[in-house]
Amino acid sequence: MSILVLILSVLLGYALAANVPRSSDCVGTIASLDDVAAAQECSTVNIEGFTVPAGEGFTLSLIDGATVNLQGDVLFGNMSWTGPLFTISGNDITFNGNGHRFDGGGPFYWDGLGSNGGITKPRPMLKIKMSGRFSDLYVVNSPAQTFSVSNPGPLVISSVTVDDSQGDYPNAQSNGLAAGHNTDGFDVSTTDLTIENRSVHNQDDCIAINEGSNIVFTNNVCTGGHGISIGSITSNRTVSGVVISNNHIANEQQAIRIKTDAVATNSSVSNITYSGNTATNLTKFGILIDQSYPSTLGVPGAGVKISNINFIEAESIISVASGADRVAVNCAVGGCLGTWDWSSLTVSGGKAGPINNFTGIEGFSQ
Ligand SMILES: *[C@@H]1O[C@H](CO)[C@@H](O)[C@H](O)[C@H]1NC(C)=O
Ligand SMILES: *[C@@H]1O[C@H](CO)[C@@H](O)[C@H](O)[C@H]1NC(C)=O
Ligand SMILES: *[C@@H]1O[C@H](CO)[C@@H](O)[C@H](O)[C@H]1NC(C)=O
Ligand SMILES: *[C@@H]1O[C@H](CO)[C@@H](O)[C@H](O)[C@H]1NC(C)=O
Ligand SMILES: *[C@@H]1O[C@H](CO)[C@@H](O)[C@H](O)[C@H]1NC(C)=O
Ligand SMILES: *[C@@H]1O[C@H](CO)[C@@H](O)[C@H](O)[C@H]1NC(C)=O
Ligand SMILES: *[C@@H]1O[C@H](CO)[C@@H](O)[C@H](O)[C@H]1NC(C)=O
Repeated sequence: MSILVLILSVLLGYALAANVPRSSDCVGTIASLDDVAAAQECSTVNIEGFTVPAGEGFTLSLIDGATVNLQGDVLFGNMSWTGPLFTISGNDITFNGNGHRFDGGGPFYWDGLGSNGGITKPRPMLKIKMSGRFSDLYVVNSPAQTFSVSNPGPLVISSVTVDDSQGDYPNAQSNGLAAGHNTDGFDVSTTDLTIENRSVHNQDDCIAINEGSNIVFTNNVCTGGHGISIGSITSNRTVSGVVISNNHIANEQQAIRIKTDAVATNSSVSNITYSGNTATNLTKFGILIDQSYPSTLGVPGAGVKISNINFIEAESIISVASGADRVAVNCAVGGCLGTWDWSSLTVSGGKAGPINNFTGIEGFSQ
């Protein structure tokens, strides 16, 4: 074969290869768990409404760059097991919920005890291990914790609703307690995450940030639960670079909380910015920063250093219920460090709370 023929045949080979569609260049449709294995190899995955059999998880492991379109409601069958009910992983994924529902069957499980006891509840309901964009999903009746997020690259979660409002009331299994319990909205140990334009009605933290950096929580509404939390922080953890802005918090135990384990060592919480948040009817505290977890205002430990906690830029306006503490800061000696700028914070109602072992708050007095 002459060199010329060889070159021509190589070029022809490339030309033909370019015209052959990549095997992933397909649209996969999921109408039952049996469809998942084939569909998740496609660059577009359409999910029709269906019921996931009780005791089974719906797990999507997607190719990079895939787009997922939800085209109907997904119900999860009821059975006591550990879960999670839904797991999604992949890089640079676009998940469009299109306003459809994921129904976790909460009332079947709710016994007022959450993850602290009673029957085993599948949790978290949704495990998010993708980067990209996850949007427009309506999540109703999570058995216990709702979302756990550990994204492998930058992720924006936008316009997602968590509605566990039915769990506010006792049911036949809850001995008079609110039936929903430990229904955290988002549990987050991650970096490069934005959660925006979302609303959560639940019976625990709206968001709990346990570890990570470059986390933004903005323009969300939190109702009925325990507020926007950092912690609880255990040993060997760093939380830094968190922005919490323009959220509205109503009818919660507290608006804003940082809780660190009294016995934890080698951890830190730093560079946390709160701006433009509003809150009404907080029944325990407006703001609680406490180094004595699991106690509240107990004996604190200094093993999680807290620094650079600021209320700046747009004013945060917080109004607590009568009997609640406006601000409580419970530090161990040497646990809270530096100066904190609280000049854009107004808190009204209730009574002043304690500020223990710390004099670094500037621009604010209660
Ligand atoms: C699970 O049980 C709850 C409460 O009884 C119910 O609302 C929900 O529809 C059930 N889910 C399924 C898939 O049957
Ligand atoms: C979030 O909500 C704001 C205000 O409603 C709106 O301007 C913005 O476009 C929304 N962002 C997304 C990504 O939907
Ligand atoms: C913290 O990290 C150190 C060093 O890796 C380890 O020895 C220790 O067990 C960790 N502590 C906890 C409570 O996990
Ligand atoms: C402190 O925690 C970090 C992880 O965050 C770990 O790498 C380091 O070994 C820990 N140091 C000690 C003294 O435990
Ligand atoms: C504090 O956090 C913000 C927002 O994440 C970030 O832009 C800034 O660089 C951080 N500052 C320091 C000193 O780390
Ligand atoms: C305040 O919040 C509590 C707890 O969520 C709720 O029971 C109560 O109805 C709320 N009060 C008002 C005036 O909204
Ligand atoms: C101050 O911190 C120490 C531990 O460092 C703790 O024992 C004490 O209870 C704290 N004081 C108050 C008033 O909380």
